[in-house]
Amino acid sequence: MNVNLLDLKAQNGALEPELNEAFLRVLRSGHFIMGPEVDRFEKALAEFTGARHALGVSSGTDAILLALMALGIGPGDEVLCPTFTFFATAGCVARVGATPVFADSCPVTFNLDVRDVARRITPRTKAIIPVHLFGQAADMEELLALAQKNNLRVIEDAAQAMGATYDDRQVGTLGDFGTISFFPTKNLGALGDAGALLTNDAELAQRAKILRMHGMEPKYMHHVIGGNFRLDALQAALLGVKLPHFPDYTAARRRNAALYTERLSALPGVVTAGTSEKEAWLILPATSPRKGHIWNQYTLRVPGEGRRDALRMHLTARGIGSEIYYPLPLHEQTCFAYLGHRPEDFPVAHRFAGEVISLPIYPEIGAEAIEEVCRAIGEFFP
Ligand SMILES: Cc1ncc(COP(=O)(O)O)c(C=O)c1O
Repeated sequence: MNVNLLDLKAQNGALEPELNEAFLRVLRSGHFIMGPEVDRFEKALAEFTGARHALGVSSGTDAILLALMALGIGPGDEVLCPTFTFFATAGCVARVGATPVFADSCPVTFNLDVRDVARRITPRTKAIIPVHLFGQAADMEELLALAQKNNLRVIEDAAQAMGATYDDRQVGTLGDFGTISFFPTKNLGALGDAGALLTNDAELAQRAKILRMHGMEPKYMHHVIGGNFRLDALQAALLGVKLPHFPDYTAARRRNAALYTERLSALPGVVTAGTSEKEAWLILPATSPRKGHIWNQYTLRVPGEGRRDALRMHLTARGIGSEIYYPLPLHEQTCFAYLGHRPEDFPVAHRFAGEVISLPIYPEIGAEAIEEVCRAIGEFFP
């Protein structure tokens, strides 16, 4: 039995009549930029997340860029962010002319190590971008306290974590801004690029709204330099069809994660992150009762030189898809060489890059496929 890493057709195909209807509605309206479809989706998203303001934007990347621009972050400023994340988190910091200051990962959760963040604060630090990696909240209580103490802004990169919670509040609504990606493989996936910016601050929302449209207010008057960061009316309409199904997608992902955990933890030598890892050959992702995980990824760690790559080859040979998020931390990327880091400067992130492997966990995968993946993993190890 082949098991693909992803199957976007299963989810979108099930909604084909409603998606078609939304497409035809937009087509026939002739209204393709902003307008009622975007307004309606923004309202639904604000309601769903609990944010006072939700702005539809062109991508998760542009949401981060817009947040940084709205906060006036630029040359001379430093912004703290993880090195073990997708490129966009730090790429946007560099694009506004500020300096990304990397911090190492917590050895247990994949998210920011708060103590390492604290060590790297300088008089130039303006903001922290915690990433809720793989769908689990970062340690927001500690990070928000650190930000408050040092007068720093917080932009939550919730690209992978829409719907995830921290103490029952949705991520993306805890800092000054939250940024969401609707990249097709995210938990709420558009049929193209799309994203959203969340905030509870009316003034920041207004600033971001103006920047989203070239800094234009009123028409053809520009007091600030913005860009075109708009969400398409078509994507808004399609996302509006999918949003009501989001709780079902999350429930399915949680069931899938629970099944992986149950089956894999029954294998000898398998432990959960943060517990007696020394003798383990497979380390399962750790969760916390304070954090409602939405499982954008189910990511294992396979310690031991070359073991992770060997497992991946073993799975590939059996027709099982997997992916490495991420094979090289940002501090080791060529484009950030100017920051002068050595690989060992962030030892946890460096180690993670050699150990992680993400398994197929999309909502429609089905229990049988998960059993197959677990069987294949069981065959690989002694
Ligand atoms: C952590 C993180 N930040 C930002 C982004 C950027 O989102 P987008 O692809 O919608 O621009 C992604 C998307 O993969 C992501 O995973």
